[in-house]
This record gives sequence, C-alpha cells and structure tokens, in this order.
Amino acid sequence: MSCEFCSPPSPSLDDLGVIKEVDKGDMFSLTLRMPEDIEQALADFGNRTFPRFTPANIVVAGMGGSAIGGDIAYSLLRDELPVPLSVIRDYNIPAFIDRKTLFFAVSYSGNTEETLSAYREAKSKEARCIVISSGGRLKEIAGDDVFISLPSGMPPRFAFPYIFVPIVRSLESMGVVRKRNDWEETIELLRKLREDLAPHTPTPDNEAKKLAYSLRGKLPLIYASSPLLYGVALRWKTQINENAKAHTYVDFFSELHHNEIMAWESEEKVANFAVVLLRDKGENDRIKKRVEITKELIGDKAEIYEVWTKGESKMERVFSLLYLGDFLSLYLAVLYHKDPQEIDNINYIKQKLSALPSS
Ligand code: PA5
Repeated sequence: MSCEFCSPPSPSLDDLGVIKEVDKGDMFSLTLRMPEDIEQALADFGNRTFPRFTPANIVVAGMGGSAIGGDIAYSLLRDELPVPLSVIRDYNIPAFIDRKTLFFAVSYSGNTEETLSAYREAKSKEARCIVISSGGRLKEIAGDDVFISLPSGMPPRFAFPYIFVPIVRSLESMGVVRKRNDWEETIELLRKLREDLAPHTPTPDNEAKKLAYSLRGKLPLIYASSPLLYGVALRWKTQINENAKAHTYVDFFSELHHNEIMAWESEEKVANFAVVLLRDKGENDRIKKRVEITKELIGDKAEIYEVWTKGESKMERVFSLLYLGDFLSLYLAVLYHKDPQEIDNINYIKQKLSALPSS
C-alpha cells in the first residue's frame, strides 16, 4: 500500500537534527510542556480569592501573544458569561468602560505601549483593574491594582497558559462564572496529544506534521465552524505568522457565507490557497449544512483540510485544536527554515516607536 508520508519530502520533519538546527530557542520544548504550564499556572493562582464583584462588562486589553488569552477565554466562557467580554487591542478604550468594568491589562513584557495607554485610560475611568505581566512599566504603574506575575524568560505567545489561567480563575473567584471542573481532564488530554504531535512521532502518525507538509507553500485560509473556535482560529493565524513567518487568513461560519464565499467566484488565482476547516462536534446543525455546501462550492478550487476538536468538555475541545495549531506553526517554521523564536520585525517596530516622543 502506498503511503504519502512514508518518505517525507525534504526537509524531513522526522529528522530531529533539522528541527534542532532551525528551532534555536527550543520553542518545541516550550510547546511540549503546555500541560505542565497549565498545572503550574493553576498552582500559582492557588487559592487567591477576590471579593465578589458583578461587573457590567469585562475587558481584556493587550496585544499579540498577550491578548490571545482573552480571546480564548471569551470563546470558552461565551455561553455562560452574564455580561459582555471584549478584547481591546488599541491605545484607546471604548466609552463604555467605567467603574463597573472589570479590566484586565495584559502585557508579558509590561512595556507594550498600546496596553500601557489603554490601562492608563482605564485607571482614569476608575475601572476595577487586574494587571497580568512579568514586570516592566506596567508593574511600576500598577499601584494598588491586583498584580499577577508571569514567569520571566518566555516569548509572550508561549506564556499563553500563564495568561489564560488567571483570567478564567479570576472570573471564577469573583463569582462571574461557575468554578470549572475540566482542568484535569484537559491537562490529561494534552498529555496524550503531545505524544501524537511531538517531533519524535513520525509523519504518518503525526497530524501536525502531515498538515504542515500539506500547507507548505500555500496561503492557508482558516475557517472556524463555531464560536467556540473563533479564538483558536486567531491563535492558529498568529502562531503561524510569528513562528513560521507566513501569511494566513481567518474567517468564520456563517459570516463567510455573506461575503468571503463570493471571492471563490474569481477566476484570478491570486494565491495558492488551502482551506483548513476547524470543526467541532458541538457546532450548530445549520452550520454543518453550511460547511457541506461550502465544500460543494469550492471543493474543486482549493484543497480542503478538516480538523476536528477532541475530548468532551468545552475546554478540552478548545485546547485540543489550539495545541494542534501550535505544533503546526512550529513544523511550518522548520519547513520554511525560520527560527520560531525570532520576531525581528516586531522588535524593530517597537524600537522605532519607543524612540519617538510619546503623544
Ligand atoms: O508573541 C509575541 O511576542 C508578540 O505577539 C507580543 O505578545 C506582542 O508584541 C505584545 O508584547 P507583550 O506581550 O510583551 O505585551
């Protein structure tokens, strides 16, 4: 029987030496330890308690790897949140923020200027603030606000568990959402998944490696089938952008049936697209039908890959696909020969801006 990935194309993702050579800062190790990082983040939060508080709204302010924890928290908690939760990626905050707002200011470095500016504005509106950072200016100006300390020495996007956990646990502690009981099973599932996705698992048995080969040289269009996966889709995009230095694009059902679907009528081949459908067993029945119609409409125009969540609870399902995307981004980095840790353009822009007088 022939096997498409039995002799993987070069560079071989089964060659651990190649992976080591490209992944100079060992981002694979950071990814492999996600289950332990979640455990550690839970332990760090410990039995911390906050006075009960019923906010009128919740805001997570941050950028890039510091903001995504807010998106994932929103996807996960959406069905039980009694008030709106927004993720703000900007210098300025919306007018609705006031003393009834619960405001998370999140910056791994503590020096991201958009987050500092948004936090200052939130403070001036007397919002109830929780600061999450490893230090920097954010820590210096936190004053009497609750400060949650992140472990130092990690690229922000790999500190995701340490950002996500305290957001969710703080909301639980204040009584905004019920206390979850699916942490343990999520950690266990991730432990199993990492065996399947790790570099030592050969390509024919490794979904992340197979997908990386399939997406290599293509522009991945990531379509999420359910609000539970919106944050995950964004995580896939941002991880592929930063780790593999590659373009990706994200869209969502059923919104894409009201605009994006028209682009498939084009005869111009502006890019070599590949569609990745992020699927979940809990997706709406009408969405299932919509996905089938989409496949019928575009199936002969691009390769379509479907990936499904695993596990039972919502958190297991969210993390199972998030984890696949994280590994995928690293394997793509290897195929593109890009060091996943390096983010020169991001640093260059930050440095240029910091040299300018602040407005
Ligand atoms: O992952 C990254 O390194 C970036 O996306 C950063 O998170 C982003 O630039 C914001 O920096 P910080 O997380 O330090 O606020």
